[in-house]
Amino acid sequence: MAEDLIKINGTRADQYANLYPQVKSLLDGELDTYANLANIAAAIHDIFGFFWVGFYLVKGDELVLGPFQGPVACTRIPFHKGVCGYTYRVGKTVIVPNVDEFPGHIACASASKSEIVVPVYFENKVILVLDVDSDCLNDFNAEDQIGLEKIMGLIEENWGNWN
Ligand code: SME
Repeated sequence: MAEDLIKINGTRADQYANLYPQVKSLLDGELDTYANLANIAAAIHDIFGFFWVGFYLVKGDELVLGPFQGPVACTRIPFHKGVCGYTYRVGKTVIVPNVDEFPGHIACASASKSEIVVPVYFENKVILVLDVDSDCLNDFNAEDQIGLEKIMGLIEENWGNWN
């Protein structure tokens, strides 16, 4: 596919609807896990301009930094720490409107003000989380949850074939 993403104006829901088929197309025929995760993070970052977009993969008893777009970030997150660890434990998407009010939030960058973390499953287990940080307070809502969960569904559908 073309290297440039098509961008539109509109609500977040409109923009996720525009982004989803483009991400699907980016993944089409490519089996490399890190290449695919890298392009997914880049596509979300590019379309919305969020401060930080990336993945933490479950490895042993912790989450380890995967492909991302944005400033350097902490490499390892124990399951009992941070919004990412909390999301791993509860197994559901977590929206944090103000990270300063979330006990145990890990501040990789002081510019980060709000956050959404989406778990991704394979064979009934969380295998990784998508972490999206914004430099605006209260930047994430149900539209982001629906849109990001749908995109994460592409990982869940394809994970078994990736290497
Ligand atoms: N804020 C996350 C840590 C990862 S960085 O934001 C990229 C957390 O509390 O788990």
